[in-house]
Amino acid sequence: TAIHRADYQAPSWWIDTVDLTFDLDPAKTRVLNKMRVRRNPDVAAQPLRLDGDELNLARVLVNGAGTSFKMDGDQLVLENLPEGGEPVELEIFTTCAPIKNTKLMGLYVSEDTFFTQCEAEGFRRITYFLDRPDVMAMYTVTLRASKAQYPVLLSNGNLVESGELEDGRHFARWVDPHKKPSYLFALVAGKLVAREQQIRSRAGNEHLLQVFVRPGDLEKTEHAMHSLMHAIAWDEARFGLSLDLDRFMIVATSDFNMGAMENKGLNIFNTKYVLASQATATDVDYANIESVVGHEYFHNWTGNRVTCRDWFQLSLKEGLTVFRDQEFSMDMAGTPSARAVKRIDDVRVLRTVQFPEDAGPMAHPVRPDSYIEINNFYTVTIYEKGAEVVRMQHNLVGREGFARGMKLYFERHDGQAVTCDDFSQAIADANPGSPLAGNLQQFRRWYSQAGTPHLKAAGQYDADARTYTLTLTQSCAPTAGQSEKLPFVIPVQMGLLTAGGREIALQLEGEDAGQAAHSRMLVVTEPEQRFVFTNVPEAPVPSLLRAFSAPVVLEHDFSDADLLTLLANDTDPFNQWEASQRLGLRIALNALNSAAASADTSSTEGQFGTDLLPPAFVQAMRSVLGDDRLDPAFKDLVLTLPSESYIAEQLAEVDPQRVHAVREAMQLQLASALQPEWEAAWEAHRDTGAYQPDHVSAGRRALAGRALSMLCLNAARTGDTVWPGKAYQRCKDAGNMTDRMAALAALIHSASPLAEQALKRFHSMFQHDALVLDKWFALQGGACDRGGNVLPAVKALMKHPDFQLKNPNRARSLIFSYCSNPGAFHRADAAGYVFWSDRVIEIDGFNPQVAARLARVLDRWKKLAEPYRTAAREAIARVAAKPDLSNDVREVVTRALAD
Ligand code: ARG
Ligand code: ZN
Repeated sequence: TAIHRADYQAPSWWIDTVDLTFDLDPAKTRVLNKMRVRRNPDVAAQPLRLDGDELNLARVLVNGAGTSFKMDGDQLVLENLPEGGEPVELEIFTTCAPIKNTKLMGLYVSEDTFFTQCEAEGFRRITYFLDRPDVMAMYTVTLRASKAQYPVLLSNGNLVESGELEDGRHFARWVDPHKKPSYLFALVAGKLVAREQQIRSRAGNEHLLQVFVRPGDLEKTEHAMHSLMHAIAWDEARFGLSLDLDRFMIVATSDFNMGAMENKGLNIFNTKYVLASQATATDVDYANIESVVGHEYFHNWTGNRVTCRDWFQLSLKEGLTVFRDQEFSMDMAGTPSARAVKRIDDVRVLRTVQFPEDAGPMAHPVRPDSYIEINNFYTVTIYEKGAEVVRMQHNLVGREGFARGMKLYFERHDGQAVTCDDFSQAIADANPGSPLAGNLQQFRRWYSQAGTPHLKAAGQYDADARTYTLTLTQSCAPTAGQSEKLPFVIPVQMGLLTAGGREIALQLEGEDAGQAAHSRMLVVTEPEQRFVFTNVPEAPVPSLLRAFSAPVVLEHDFSDADLLTLLANDTDPFNQWEASQRLGLRIALNALNSAAASADTSSTEGQFGTDLLPPAFVQAMRSVLGDDRLDPAFKDLVLTLPSESYIAEQLAEVDPQRVHAVREAMQLQLASALQPEWEAAWEAHRDTGAYQPDHVSAGRRALAGRALSMLCLNAARTGDTVWPGKAYQRCKDAGNMTDRMAALAALIHSASPLAEQALKRFHSMFQHDALVLDKWFALQGGACDRGGNVLPAVKALMKHPDFQLKNPNRARSLIFSYCSNPGAFHRADAAGYVFWSDRVIEIDGFNPQVAARLARVLDRWKKLAEPYRTAAREAIARVAAKPDLSNDVREVVTRALAD
């Protein structure tokens, strides 16, 4: 049954203190929970209803004496508690079985170590509680366990006592000095070792930082520790926010449903976002670690000190914290070009994952109105679009203004559980007179309305008057339950260029020439709005939505010449890149549309020929590739064609095989037409010296890797064996994982006969490293399909001794990679979809959260052309027909099938 935001009620009871004692045992852990509770005087008296899930209840005491209680579903209901406002001592004794906890929510065991994951509603799987974020309590936690098996005992806050017990057991007592909601509780117990670092903050306080991992992994924690130190320094410098704990711990586990979790003072991480060495981790892994370590650390203020009133407000902490980690990564990257590269990466995720979500069956506002399973709402809309909504507020009040707004937000709400409205109110109130303050109610539609707005731009130049009139029109398609959309507040950062690429001073009608700038922000609030620029010397090329200043689809009738001008000359690197993408997209769509008219629908790869790319496009790519002034990382992005999913989103009806074929054809032509340039790029960038994961050397490796991949692709066409040979050699000798993976991927994606041998070698080199094996599986699930060979290979790999379906990272590495590999997954014989439905059902039997993520792979089935559409619907219906599905998967497939 659905839960509605409008039904929110303050809790009728508060929990002030919690004293938990755990006797840890994998088969039967005993949990003694002593709480001091009191009635909320602001709410009419009600029984105390405590949440529980899969607990064995042994005893309930009220003020030390037995009491009557009843069960209502999973809730424990206490109806006869003393009247009045006096605190009541509650004591609840339960047991649970962590070893059987395959959902990885609550208390579970991974590799003989205990871990917890409580967000969103896992704490109720540990003990009966008011498991909602607006109930904040002070925690004391005592852990007891076998000393030999569980030498390290951790929980939130400060260690206040530890010692020996009888029978080889020991204990540790932790006190968290800050009150917190239950979703931030954590404990860890096992054989772990720590990298430690003592730091002194700007404020002059000493802190102990620790990164806990399994013995043997210690030398892979340096980058995580450095990232943490940088994050701490950055939050002090940029926002004046200091670490509020003596001790800050990160613990890594290889069994984790998502990336990481910001438990107070005890962050728990997927190993993927902690462990790195040059031999085992790629540049992308290094960057992800920096960003996730930053993200979880930044939650200490945006999430923990100020938390969410209810789960509908999830983006209050997630959107804001993603914005903060994006800014952190940009500030760490340094140069303007490096910042732009990060921005482009983030926008690519938004467009290829969030825009489709916003247009599909799971579309929801950044602040949803209802949900069935909250775990399904940890989405790219809440996170990434939520971050864009924070970024627009930043854009509307400026960098300084935003810092002021953050300060006011903490002054007002520190220690509270609040709403998205409270946040935007603080930012606006700190900036009276700003366009945000002036349009706050309307701005908030970004939180309440789902769907991606479209912004249409039309320009008209009047040569006699020397004016340029820009007309911006906004619209937003209906989404489920929201048929009418009201206009948004859209900040449009923009500039104007001459056809020759020079910048034009921007002077709006009625303004003095004195205030003319080359880039400025227009604020669109009306359905249609006109801006008249004066003193415009010639018909300009508009550069709109610079740095992607709002999460909208911009439609403008750019000529090819306009786009080439922007690509070559725009001072905004985001829009330079954007021009290259528009050119590429246009070529793909034209080919798909014109070939659609021809009768041939057979999905052979050759159907698009070898001259899809017009000479001007090839020449533009050649200039970028050969331009020594450009950052290699930026060149790599410009030379990356729009993804298949991005192309597919532009089409009313999608034949995934044709989309795949057209992109392959474009890719191949880019490989062959620029062969000498790729060779030069390879030669210039292949050696980056002693490994450093910094932006500049990572960019060089990225470009070298792309060059090698293009050279192998072209070799597959010409029959050349030199380049595949070089790639094979690189796979053997590379000094770091980035280069090694790029070489292996080049062999696999060009279907080289050397690929198999290279894969074998790679496996034997890294068979003891779980994270590298994940890459090995992922490469094979994501391989290029030749005559339907990928699915049988994936099925065979599921029987490989290293494959474990129950480990989320491993399941994702093979199965998710395959199901998001369009060319191999969308098969005319429907075998890909049958495989998908089998896996969704199988995984749902033990881990609903992971299953529900996989279930979303077919979200956009209604856009598919036949025979895919019917086959996909049948596969979804097959899952939906399963009687005992989890709420998680049930919600996803029900929404997918709804009309
Ligand atoms: N709060 C965590 C983070 O963003 C993620 C928790 C995800 N929880 C879930 N049930 N999916 O850092
Ligand atoms: Zn988060």
